[in-house]
Amino acid sequence: MVQPYRHEPFTDFEVEEDAKELEAALHQVEQELGQDYPLIIGGERIYTDDKITSINPNNKSEVVGTVSKANKELAEKAMKTADETFEWWRKSTPEMRADILFRAAAIVRRRKHEFNAWAIKESGKAWKEADGDVAEGIDFLEYYGRQMLEIAKGGEVNSRHNENNRFSYIPLGVGLVISPWNLLFAIMCGTAVSPMVTGNTVLLKPASNSPVIAYKFMEVMEEAGMPAGVINYIPGSGSEVGDYLVEHPNTRFVSFTGSRDVGVNIYEKAAKIQEGQKWLKRVIAEMGGKDTIVVDDEADLELASQAIVQSAFDFSGQKCSSGSRAVVHQDVYDEVLERVVEITKGLDIGDTSKKNYYMGAVIDQNAYDKIMSYMDVGKEEGRLMIGGDGDDTNGYYINPTVFADLAPDSRMQQEEIFGPVVGFTKAKNFDEAIDIANNTDYGLTGAVISNNRNHLEIAREDFHVGNLYFNRGCTAAIVGYHPFGGFDMSGTDSKAGGPDYLYNFIQGKTVSEML
Ligand code: NAD
Ligand code: ALA
Repeated sequence: MVQPYRHEPFTDFEVEEDAKELEAALHQVEQELGQDYPLIIGGERIYTDDKITSINPNNKSEVVGTVSKANKELAEKAMKTADETFEWWRKSTPEMRADILFRAAAIVRRRKHEFNAWAIKESGKAWKEADGDVAEGIDFLEYYGRQMLEIAKGGEVNSRHNENNRFSYIPLGVGLVISPWNLLFAIMCGTAVSPMVTGNTVLLKPASNSPVIAYKFMEVMEEAGMPAGVINYIPGSGSEVGDYLVEHPNTRFVSFTGSRDVGVNIYEKAAKIQEGQKWLKRVIAEMGGKDTIVVDDEADLELASQAIVQSAFDFSGQKCSSGSRAVVHQDVYDEVLERVVEITKGLDIGDTSKKNYYMGAVIDQNAYDKIMSYMDVGKEEGRLMIGGDGDDTNGYYINPTVFADLAPDSRMQQEEIFGPVVGFTKAKNFDEAIDIANNTDYGLTGAVISNNRNHLEIAREDFHVGNLYFNRGCTAAIVGYHPFGGFDMSGTDSKAGGPDYLYNFIQGKTVSEML
């Protein structure tokens, strides 16, 4: 009997023993840096001449690893393998598949600090963020395993006299999973194992900034008993391998998490029926956000200020859920703004692979340049309160930045910057604050800080986001507690970590027999 699901506890790095364990893991991982990793297709390790080099964003001269890069021929080989494997894997038992996830969860749990260390090295995360990322990956394994067992019990349907009706779910086929670098362990793991546990086979294309931790995940899955060919590891260029497989007639579904532009492009390409294609491809596209924290005049202003800072600057604002907009009632605007600036002054930034800094560097040079270009936009459109500067000499460091007095429709308040930048906009009253909060193309997360019950109920109805939080920040959804996914241009609202998520990867089959 499987224990009821509980989310993985987080590590408190204020506890000296826990901090020491992570330091030891960082030291161990440092000895393993710079290795060369192959593709894995049908269990076979394949090395290519063309490589992806993964570096530590905190220290760009440090190579985390080099990884072989798939091309179209290897993508085709992976597709053929996944197709063949599907023919028997689709008939495997849900219990056997769920058990693989439970064993994988146990392995990652035992090696948690090692995975934390890889996440820190490969993404520049702070310790707490890496720990949350790895814990979320464990949660996906535990939760989806249990969800599969629930679904396997089958649905109840009626049978008439002399009739025997059965209703059950079957998998779809070969799925392409394309994951981002920001929740480099959690999302990569969750989006790969959810189709797999439902009986599909998977082509996993991790982000080019974070392929090493994905290789480590593949090793865990193999150790946990995942048969060869069920998940195939094919890092490569999005535009070459990604496009090729999105358009492939044998691709049955695409599970994408990443930016809006790439997601929309995939959605369009997947919609076109290719020669020899026998189905409509399903597309799960979880994309960007421009997430708002609304502060009411009747509110705990210290809570509001802490929530704004944490939501804006945790992991340097590089979460789809990051609170990049604060929309504050005019009567408390100055007080909240001042307190946010004060808290921000106390944040320390540095190489998180050396010390437990609050924030590390942003992911790469492109991100650094893009975020820094918004500093000029912010100065034109609003008032710089703190930050606005960075240093990319050794790593891609950008100071936490606050802009005030931005118009609701300014570029700063409309475009996803994906960095440590928060913009303030003043609202005349609560209704206007909700209107402003809703005035972007996105609809991922949002928060309301208010002690007014009536206002909270208005927000419950009218604040149009997939994940709405009251009296807390707008990040840090937990698997099985806060199913996660966005409305509008934030995506298809697949609700990762929720009770319906696995239905994305199965289809219902009715068999009716006359007796
Ligand atoms: P990205 O779109 O640049 O890349 C995501 C993945 O898509 C990577 O694996 C990349 O290699 C691949 N890719 C790129 N071009 C492709 C193509 N033409 N065909 C197929 N695949 C292609 O995004 P990113 O920079 O890795 O991640 C940041 C973005 O992801 C942000 O916009 C963030 O909001 C979003 N995000 C959303 C969620 C969510 O649940 N809604 C979660 C995390 C991140
Ligand atoms: N699920 C992640 C969060 O809620 C992105 O912050």
